[in-house]
Amino acid sequence: MKTVDIQEKIVKLAQLINEHNHRYYVQNAPVISDFEFDALLKELTELEAKYPEFILPDSPTQRVGADITKKFPTIEHEVQMLSLDNSYSIQEIKEFDERIQKGLESKHYEYTCELKIDGLAISIVYEKGKLKYAATRGDGKIGEVVTNNVKTIKTIPLKLHGDNTPDYVEIRGEVYITKSNFEKINQNRIEIGEEPYANPRNFASGTLKLQDPREVAKRKLDFFPYFVRLRENETKLSIKTQYESFEWLKKWGFKVNPNIELCKNLTEVEKYLTQWQTKRYTLDYETDGVVVKINDYAQQSILGNTSKFPRWAIAYKYAAEQVETVLQSVSFQVGRTGIITPVANLSPVQLGGTVVKRATLHNAQEIKRLDLHEQDTVFIEKGGEIIPKVVRVNVEKRKKTAHPIVFLTHCPECNTPLQVSETGIHYYCPNSYQCPPQIVGRIVHFVRRNAMDIQAIGEEKVEQFYKAGLIRTPADLYKIKMEDLLKLERFGKKLAENVIKGIEQSKTQPFERVLFALGIRYVGETVAIKLAHHFKDIDNLFNAKAEEISQVYEIGEKIAQSVTEAAKNPYYTQLVQELKQAGLQFKTDEDKIQNTLVSNKLQGLTFLATGTMKNFSREQIEKTIRENGGKVASSISKNLSYLIVGNEPGESKIKKAKELNVKMISEEEFINMLK
Ligand code: IVH
Repeated sequence: MKTVDIQEKIVKLAQLINEHNHRYYVQNAPVISDFEFDALLKELTELEAKYPEFILPDSPTQRVGADITKKFPTIEHEVQMLSLDNSYSIQEIKEFDERIQKGLESKHYEYTCELKIDGLAISIVYEKGKLKYAATRGDGKIGEVVTNNVKTIKTIPLKLHGDNTPDYVEIRGEVYITKSNFEKINQNRIEIGEEPYANPRNFASGTLKLQDPREVAKRKLDFFPYFVRLRENETKLSIKTQYESFEWLKKWGFKVNPNIELCKNLTEVEKYLTQWQTKRYTLDYETDGVVVKINDYAQQSILGNTSKFPRWAIAYKYAAEQVETVLQSVSFQVGRTGIITPVANLSPVQLGGTVVKRATLHNAQEIKRLDLHEQDTVFIEKGGEIIPKVVRVNVEKRKKTAHPIVFLTHCPECNTPLQVSETGIHYYCPNSYQCPPQIVGRIVHFVRRNAMDIQAIGEEKVEQFYKAGLIRTPADLYKIKMEDLLKLERFGKKLAENVIKGIEQSKTQPFERVLFALGIRYVGETVAIKLAHHFKDIDNLFNAKAEEISQVYEIGEKIAQSVTEAAKNPYYTQLVQELKQAGLQFKTDEDKIQNTLVSNKLQGLTFLATGTMKNFSREQIEKTIRENGGKVASSISKNLSYLIVGNEPGESKIKKAKELNVKMISEEEFINMLK
C-alpha cells in the first residue's frame, strides 16, 4: 500500500470506529457485533503501531491513557462553577417559585426538571470542535486538569459531531459510574481479597484523580451533560434555552439523560418530583434529587446569581428512603478468603420498589456502632449498593430483656477460632484449606468465566461435587470420571458428558488464565497477565524474589509478597504440580507470540521507556517493541540496550542510565528504528 493510502485507511477506520462507539455507548443501538468491532479496532491499532506518524488526536485508540502524570495541573474556570441551593420539601419549591415570579415580574416562564445525578461535576472545553481540556470543579474557581482521564469516558466525544461546531464551547456535567459496573468491580475486589469500595460517588471521584488513565479506562466511568456555555462572540450558532441545549448536546454526540422534562408550571414540576421519588431506584445510576431550572437563558440572566449559587435553579433533594423493620436474626457468611460478613435477616418490608428481607451489617465494628440487640427494630436504607444497609436502631422499641448481638468467636462452618484481619475491621477464619465454604469458594473461582471458563460447572455443581466427596481442590476436577457423575442426583448422560467435555477443554486455557484461576491473593486478571508475560512460566515466577516481582511494571510490593508466600505454601505447590500433571498450561505460548510478530527489527534489543510519548501510550510502545521482536525491561540495568526518553522523563532513570552508560534515544529515533 502507498503511504497516502495507508493514511487514508487510518482516517477511515478511526471514523468508522468512532461511529460504532457512538452507536454502542450513546445510542445503545449497535449495528455490528463485539467481534466485528474488536476486529476493526485491532486493524487500526496495528496500522497505527506501524505508522505512528498518522495517529489522529481523536483516534479511538487515544482514549485509553496517553501518559502517566505526576500531579494534575490546575486551571482557572473561565466562568465560576457554582453549586446549587438545596430544598427538601414541596413548600420550599413553592417559595422558590414565588421568588422567580417576583424576579421575572410575573412574565411567563417555564422550568426544566432534570434528575440530579450523584457523581462529580466536570467542565470540558472544546475548541474548534476538539476536546481541548477537562477539569474538575475544584473550589469552583480553580479546578484540576484531568483531560486524559476524562478522555477514557466513551460517552464523551473527543471531537464534536457535525460540521457547524462552535469555535469555543464549555460543557459541564456529571461523571458517574453505573450501579451495575460498581457492583461488578466490588465483586472482583472481594474475590481477590481486597476491601470493596464504599459507594459509587466516592469511587467515581477517586477514579478521576488516578494518575494512570489506563486504570481509569478499566473502571468504565460515564457522563451526563447538563450545561452548555458558548462565548459571547460566538457567531455560528446561538442557543436560547436549557431544553434546546440538550438537543445540541445530542447532535454533538453526547449521551443526554432521557428523563429531562420541560414543565410549564409548578404543578408539572411537582408531578415530576413525586414521580421520580421512587422511580429513581429503578435506574442504573445513583440520583439524589431533581434540579429545577428556569428554561430561558435570557430569564436566567435577569435572575442572576448570588455569590454561591444561581437564583434561577434549585436542587430538590430526596431524603434517602428509610423504613423500619424488625431484626429476626443475624447470619454469618464465610467468603472464599475466609472473611466473615454478618447479614441481618429482617421481617420483609417494602423499600424503594422492592421487598427487602436481608441487609448487610458489613463487619463486627458496624454491629458495635449500631449497638445492635436481638429483635431490635431497625431503620434500613438503600445506599450506593444494591443491597440495603441497616443505618440505625430505634432504641425506644427495644425490649428490656434483649441481649446484644455478639460477633462469633468461632467459624460458623468449621468451628475454628476466628482471627482479626490486618486492618482490624474483619474477622476471618484462618482454616483456609479445611473450611468448606473456603474450599468451595476457591473452586468456584477456578471455574469462573474469566478464569478457566468451565461453563458446565457453576456454584451449585461445585457444591454438589464437594458434598459427594469428589473434589477438595481445583486439581480434583481433572480426576472426575463419567461414572462418578452418573451416580449423582440430577445427572444424566448428556449433562455428565458436558461437564467432562468442559473440564477437558479448559486444559487449553493460556497460562495467564490458569495463574488467575489459582486464586492467589491480589493476583487479579490484569496482574496475572502482567506476571505471565514477564516470567513466562510458573517456575520462573515461583522462584523469583519479591524484589524481582515488584520490579515488573505496575506490580507493587503487596502483590509480590503475596506471590512469594504462595510459592512457599504447600497448598499451591501441590496444586500446581497436580494441575501440571493434568496437562494445564503453565508456560506462555511462545509460538503464539511469534505469530504476532510484525518484524524482527528489534531482535536481541531490550528497551525501557520513560516520560510521556507523543505517539504512544506506555502500553502501545511496549506492544510495538514486542511486536518487532524486542524485549521490554522493567528497570534500568547494564543489559538494557536503549532507554527511550519522552517528555518529563523520570529523573532517577536518567541518572541511573548515565551511570551505567546506557544509550538514550528519543521517541523519533525509536520510530526510525522501525522503518
Ligand atoms: S446544574 C449552576 N444539573 O449537583 C448550575 N447540577 O449540588 C450548577 N448535579 O455541582 C449545576 N445533576 O455536580 C446541575 N442535572 C444537573 C445535575 C447537577 C447533578 C450536581 C452538580 C452540582 C451539584 C450541586
